[in-house]
Amino acid sequence: MKIYVENDYASMSRRAADIIAAEIKNNPNCVLGFATGSTPTGTYARLGELCKSGEISFKNVTTVNLDEYKGLSPDHPQSYRCFMNKNLFDLTDILPENTHLPNGLAEDSDAECKRYDKLIKDLGNTDLQLLGIGHNGHIGFNEPNDRFIPGTNVIDLTESTIQANSRFFESAQGVPTQAFTMGIGCIMSAKSILMIAEGKGKAQALYDALCGPVAPSCPASILQLHPNVTVIGDKEAFSLIIEKEPKLCI
Ligand code: F6R
Repeated sequence: MKIYVENDYASMSRRAADIIAAEIKNNPNCVLGFATGSTPTGTYARLGELCKSGEISFKNVTTVNLDEYKGLSPDHPQSYRCFMNKNLFDLTDILPENTHLPNGLAEDSDAECKRYDKLIKDLGNTDLQLLGIGHNGHIGFNEPNDRFIPGTNVIDLTESTIQANSRFFESAQGVPTQAFTMGIGCIMSAKSILMIAEGKGKAQALYDALCGPVAPSCPASILQLHPNVTVIGDKEAFSLIIEKEPKLCI
């Protein structure tokens, strides 16, 4: 596992974008797995700049997102489709038909989960999967559980995740209570994984993920078993690790 402790959000975002840009340059037809939320917006803005300056092109890139709220249409302003269009896709030359998210409006959830798993498999799995991390250690929307769920599934969002995500909605009541999420097996099938984390609020989750036991009570801890993981965070996010396991950060 490669670890980068950055001074601030801007340098974290720059390094993450540089790694993704290098992947695109090495393999212009790559399949990239993307996340939503506050953490990756700086990375996406930087990728948009690199695309605008002609340094990279998304023309042959395919993307699959980790998750989508169940019940939100793609044009709902809080849908993850809308988020991705606004924060990344519209800033690049990517072909809309090469961008994939679960369909939040699918009536048959089981069929939608199967469709999404098949899509990822047919694409040959992701070359690079970008992840954020929840305060409770979730990745995608795989919440703490008593087992790791391998495939795409519909998850009941925990109260803490609903509260955390209510900042994007008018109130916590407006946050959907369920979401489609890529499963832990799909995430682990990525050839490489890049996790980013910002702020003191993520320090405990990051510590549990990287230094605690591998357990479904902290879904991100599974990354300890993946052969090609890079974690980039600011000093605050790494503060507990720096305090308790400083050798990990060398
Ligand atoms: C969303 C996703 C989530 C977020 C996590 C952190 O697609 O995958 O796991 O990465 O909830 O969210 P932020 O970045 O808003 O703190």
